[in-house]
Amino acid sequence: MRIHLDHNATTPVCPEAASAMRRVLLEEFGNPSSVALEGARARALVEAAREDVARLLGAAPDHVRFTSGATEANNTLLFGLLAPGDHVVTTQVEHPSVSAPLEALAMRGVSVDRIAPDADGCVPLAALEAAIRPETRLVCVIWANNETGAIQPIPELAALCRARGLWLHADATQAIGKLPVDLAAVAVDSIASSAHKLGGPKGIGALIAREQKTIRPLLVGGGQERGLRGGTENVIGIAGYGAACRAVAAEGPERERALRTLRDRLWQGIEQGIAGVRWNGGPATTLPNTLNVEFEGVAGEVLLQALDLEGIAVSAGAACHSGSVEPSKILLAMGRTPEEARASLRFSVGQGVDAGQIERVIERLCVLVPRIRGLGAP
Ligand SMILES: Cc1ncc(COP(=O)(O)O)c(C=O)c1O
Repeated sequence: MRIHLDHNATTPVCPEAASAMRRVLLEEFGNPSSVALEGARARALVEAAREDVARLLGAAPDHVRFTSGATEANNTLLFGLLAPGDHVVTTQVEHPSVSAPLEALAMRGVSVDRIAPDADGCVPLAALEAAIRPETRLVCVIWANNETGAIQPIPELAALCRARGLWLHADATQAIGKLPVDLAAVAVDSIASSAHKLGGPKGIGALIAREQKTIRPLLVGGGQERGLRGGTENVIGIAGYGAACRAVAAEGPERERALRTLRDRLWQGIEQGIAGVRWNGGPATTLPNTLNVEFEGVAGEVLLQALDLEGIAVSAGAACHSGSVEPSKILLAMGRTPEEARASLRFSVGQGVDAGQIERVIERLCVLVPRIRGLGAP
């Protein structure tokens, strides 16, 4: 059986979500906008899932707007809110679903300040605060990074933004299900969420925003999602997303503890068994399931492929473009050299990973890393 240590890329659909989706797929084909009984039943499913998502996040159900995922949620918020002349404070460690729209908006006259992280990937609160100007319209900061798991100071930043009357948007895609994300306690104005990172299906997520009147929709026609997102709702996906949120909520803090135990043992095994390794982050500032490690002198993509052949799935921050391996922009922003970034791999644990699998991964790494080093420099 393969060992999946790439849960930040995606995590398997949980049994609760699978059975909810199966039931809707086979038994509920109504269009939620139809007035007839079939439509009313589909509408009830959508609204029940909206409540499940809202309950997990401490939000009001009316603030939840379903989208095709976090990419669409981030795009909707950024393109829907910003206009030429606006200023945005953001970071150098955003997911491309935030950084790419902001690049496009910068071409249209929005000015964007991207604040650098420290060596652990955390963006200092003082640097974010110092970048705020009178014309700042939005502060946009990822809650926790997908590549390194670095957690940003969202509660403190939310308090600061609230005091100044500034809109704070946080891409919470990786944080949900791994950290408490409670909008009743944290004054963040909007977040993006994606179902497939927490046990739901791919292709569904939500923009959760306290105030929606000022957000222009990306998709118009039909008026669904109170006019914020035209198009017949993905009822099957929505039902799966709601069920996954219920399952995460039912697990409570035990989920976080279990993830942390697996991740910490993995790091301990790597650190004790292999010389020349560095955690790109640290236990106090990183998601409980994520471990990004630099294996000095190793080409990350070679180690990734060697692990893959042994049945172990991990991820390299680096992306392969037309034959050349680009180092991770996130690790470069954290001050790593291109060689150090290329020598780094991400391990992310999740549902279904057990202690025995972690021991097997440690054992294989202790064999593979010296073997690859013996082949020469990356
Ligand atoms: C931090 C973060 N934001 C946004 C996304 C995009 O989510 P989706 O796949 O739902 O579009 C991802 C997925 O990798 C992510 O990790």
